[in-house]
Amino acid sequence: MSAATLFVTGGAGFIGSALVRLLIADSDWRIVNIDKLTYAGNLESLKALTGTHRHIFSHTDICDRSALDKLFAEYRPAGVIHLAAESHVDRSIHGPADFIDTNIVGTYTLLEAARAYWSGMTPESRSGFRFHHVSTDEVFGSLDADGLFAETSPYRPNSPYSASKAASDHLVRAWQHTYGLPTLVTNCSNNYGPYHFPEKLIPLVILNALAGKPLPIYGKGDNVRDWLYVDDHARALRLVFERGMPGETYNIGGHNEKTNLEVVEALCALLDELRPRADGRLYREQISFVADRPGHDRRYAIDAAKIQRELGWTPRESFETGLRKTVAWYLANHGWIEHVVSGEYRNWMQQNYTDRNAA
Ligand code: NAD
Ligand code: TYD
Repeated sequence: MSAATLFVTGGAGFIGSALVRLLIADSDWRIVNIDKLTYAGNLESLKALTGTHRHIFSHTDICDRSALDKLFAEYRPAGVIHLAAESHVDRSIHGPADFIDTNIVGTYTLLEAARAYWSGMTPESRSGFRFHHVSTDEVFGSLDADGLFAETSPYRPNSPYSASKAASDHLVRAWQHTYGLPTLVTNCSNNYGPYHFPEKLIPLVILNALAGKPLPIYGKGDNVRDWLYVDDHARALRLVFERGMPGETYNIGGHNEKTNLEVVEALCALLDELRPRADGRLYREQISFVADRPGHDRRYAIDAAKIQRELGWTPRESFETGLRKTVAWYLANHGWIEHVVSGEYRNWMQQNYTDRNAA
């Protein structure tokens, strides 16, 4: 049934796989999951869906226009939720090229493939079609001690990652304004939860703590992030896709502002409780202050009033409940962790982190 088919790009990644698991468990959509399987894409995150006929995986690069055209022609989706991206700020600092290719050129290529397909749809199907672009609050730059990012905040991206995401947001806006493609954009704060690749702060700290390694905190640890449990983000994405107003943007955030030091200390306390160190000492003794990230944004914080008011979304998890679930998941899922921490990832870490950890 073509009307029930939805394309999800980046569905083997951290947030994409949470969205695919939610949609398969809790909706009737048939999902075509389009993913290149970079170092961050992992089919093991979708293992629970093996044999599910409503999940079809396509190993495809979003920069490949002819492959995308074939997928649109074959599956005739009712919409696209676009998550495929290069997503790690530190990687973007060391090597921005992949961020330009996937986040900008890939989004452009996907927009053009979607527009060609949408132009050929029947008038009724055309008006129901949605192109939902998943983006980040980092496009708004950095906040001082006060204030929140609203949908109307000016774009001031500071890192190669956030600049590439800002560029893609602008492309989506232009495709809506110029061609009338029915688009939606969401800008979300930092996510955490199960299946998070261990280069990001929270899983990195959990795994380093368990391995007896230093817990690297950039600078003084006083930078602030606004944390959202990944399943809360997935529910918000579904809601915006199904009920959002075309042409609109929605901010998504958890009202969970924490300094990085607070996050790491909370993780240490949970690990002390759930998996105490064999030598009886505390995990916080492993904390190590290292050289700061260049251009490190000071504070992110989201005003999520619009999505709450217009679509009735609020997060279910507090930072305390979400973090406890996350630590418990990492303690129980060693197999997943061992497989994703591949040779490629280890080499990259060795090349790019040696100097910072030694600072
Ligand atoms: P991730 O790095 O875990 O996953 C990205 C996925 O995209 C991977 O499965 C990867 O294989 C795939 N991919 C990369 N390049 C591709 C290409 N050229 N073609 C097809 N697939 C490709 O990322 P994530 O943390 O799950 O983030 C998903 C989206 O949400 C991104 O667009 C990101 O900018 C946005 N976002 C992330 C956060 C966060 O805290 N992680 C917050 C707000 C928004
Ligand atoms: P990260 O998880 O990389 O997300 P983002 O840069 O998109 O916010 O980092 C979250 C915060 O943690 C950010 O302020 C940088 C900091 N950080 C550390 O202090 N140490 C680390 O080893 C990492 C990976 C991040």
